[in-house]
Amino acid sequence: MAQTFETIRKYPAVDEVLAKKAIIQAVSIIREDLPMFTEHFPSSNSFAGFYKPTENVEWTTGFWTGAIWLAYEYTGDDVFKQAAEVQVDSFLERIKNKTDVNHHDMGFLFSLSCVAAYKLTGNEKAKEAALMAADHLAGRYRENGKFLQAWGNVGEASEYRLIIDCLLNLPILYWASEVTGDGHYAKMAENHIRTAMQCILREDDSTYHTYFIDMETGKPSYGVTHQGNRNNSAWARGQAWGIYGIALSYHYLKDDSYIDLFCRVTDFFLRHLPEDLIPYWDFDFDTGSGEPRDSSAAAIAVCGMLEMTKYLGGERGEKYKDAAYRLLYALIGQCGNTDWRQSNGLLLHGTYARDSEENTCQDRGVDECNTWGDYFYMEALTRILSDWKLYW
Ligand code: GLY
Repeated sequence: MAQTFETIRKYPAVDEVLAKKAIIQAVSIIREDLPMFTEHFPSSNSFAGFYKPTENVEWTTGFWTGAIWLAYEYTGDDVFKQAAEVQVDSFLERIKNKTDVNHHDMGFLFSLSCVAAYKLTGNEKAKEAALMAADHLAGRYRENGKFLQAWGNVGEASEYRLIIDCLLNLPILYWASEVTGDGHYAKMAENHIRTAMQCILREDDSTYHTYFIDMETGKPSYGVTHQGNRNNSAWARGQAWGIYGIALSYHYLKDDSYIDLFCRVTDFFLRHLPEDLIPYWDFDFDTGSGEPRDSSAAAIAVCGMLEMTKYLGGERGEKYKDAAYRLLYALIGQCGNTDWRQSNGLLLHGTYARDSEENTCQDRGVDECNTWGDYFYMEALTRILSDWKLYW
């Protein structure tokens, strides 16, 4: 079915009472998880509902620290602050030792752990770690093509491409310019999003997951998927990264050309939601397909819409706010974990990766919790209940 703002308006919307109930539940799970996940981090996704402890590796550990900071903001309880600070120390070590950081995900890792710590508590070690991470990310900027190379060794021909997820890694560069007064970080971020939006958005307002840049000419060359169903399909989480990524760049740049891009990417996402509003992992699939959902895509999209409604006035702003409230209601009811004995995660029914003929993935974290789904769920609830100041 094709959803519209009118059809979505028929679904129930979250209100303060429900959001409060949901966040209290989520915070109690985070509290239960602290003994296992303070010195260690949760794995990227759960296994039969349960995260396993890992070291501070992969692109996903910052989401857990970010969720702890949100629990601290909601409760004011020092137990959360102390746990998050242990993890901030781990992030400082990680960037100093360059452990598993040969990729672009410095924003996912360091915005939610260390920029958050610095903004909330003035932690100087956190600031140092986040600035080192911003420098490290800046090292992936390719002047030839004006973009941040996502994966592989910088300048490597087989990996000369950008990916839509990177839009969430730009805020750490904008932030670094703000705190250092050195504009070169923000300039790279601005150039990157301009390049990305020139090639990644299709005519029908769906998005490519990744796009190769021609190493000779620096011009966009061709798009392929990594995690979507097909090269030409819309991977649900990729589309959601687009929604929130554009909103975050708008927050920093206030460039009005991004408003239209935001609306196009978001409208596509909303139009393709299934009957119960929880997206399948790729928009190739709809109600009755039997394919798994990706609840994290909806949580990311809700945060992006709630961010952008701060700047979109009038009826247009209200439309996105209304849609965000209704998606969040669906998430709470259908995916919010209410029992620590069934899962130690917050948001059920996510999909990390699903194997398909055209993508390069194997099934991973299918119909499981994932740390980013949990984080964005907490962020969405926090946004409903407070005038939340961005960690991004
Ligand atoms: N950024 C990687 C992913 O969304 O799976």
